[in-house]
Amino acid sequence: MRAIKENSCLGASIEGIDLTKPLSDKEVSFISNSLAEYEVIFFKNQRIEPSEHREFALNFGSLQTHPAYPTVDGYPEITILENDRDNPSKIEEWHTDMTFREIPPLGSILIGRIVPPKVGATLFGSLSKAYESLPEKMKLKLGSLSAVHSFEYGFKESLAEPGGRERLKQALIDNPPVTHPVIRTHPITGRKSIFVNKLFTSHINEINEEESKEILSFLFEHIKKDEFLMKFEWEKDFIAFWDNRSILHKPDNDYWPQHRKMERITIDDTLRPS
Ligand code: SIN
Repeated sequence: MRAIKENSCLGASIEGIDLTKPLSDKEVSFISNSLAEYEVIFFKNQRIEPSEHREFALNFGSLQTHPAYPTVDGYPEITILENDRDNPSKIEEWHTDMTFREIPPLGSILIGRIVPPKVGATLFGSLSKAYESLPEKMKLKLGSLSAVHSFEYGFKESLAEPGGRERLKQALIDNPPVTHPVIRTHPITGRKSIFVNKLFTSHINEINEEESKEILSFLFEHIKKDEFLMKFEWEKDFIAFWDNRSILHKPDNDYWPQHRKMERITIDDTLRPS
């Protein structure tokens, strides 16, 4: 087993592990440590079935169901992200998954099922590297702040669609707005990272609206700077496993109107961001 760095900032490909077979404790701990260290890890040419995708993910925690997406038949925890001419991707914004939950996910495991050649990459950003590059004075200030993350805020466009509010009624009830620290500390590495994202973070609590807007606009621009990013080019049966505690991501929707189909499992964390 080995991890090969994809980029000087973040990301590594894992070789020498077969995901169609049950993993040994040693393999699980190698993967967990690589995930914490590189923040996003990749497995290439792993022809796994939905059942194996599920078994693989269960090594790292319990699995979530997503309130707003279709799922694979018989696997409510496998979300389908499928787009084509008639159904363009709605994921346009940089985000960290489901930060509208009190305990946001530990990570997600995404597999490419149908991927058009040379387009439709996923872009990943290191929130810890983005934090490290901030001036000390700003680190200090941000360290004392908390921000509100909200399902309603993140899904405002879906909610505005005809019937949207009715369709997402239960999800709105289940996911009231939550507060997280603006800077969180990774439970394994101890590294700090910027924990706000343009999709779900509506405002900062401790300051007035104007200052909150100013700081968040600065941070939303800062965290997506090229120096903290990497681009993962998909092929069929490639897998990306990202650490949701320190990663920002978004798909590159340059493949539209071609057909792209991905399947994603999101793994529960057990600790609140702190
Ligand atoms: C996601 O945002 O979770 C999906 C990323 C992708 O489809 O590339």
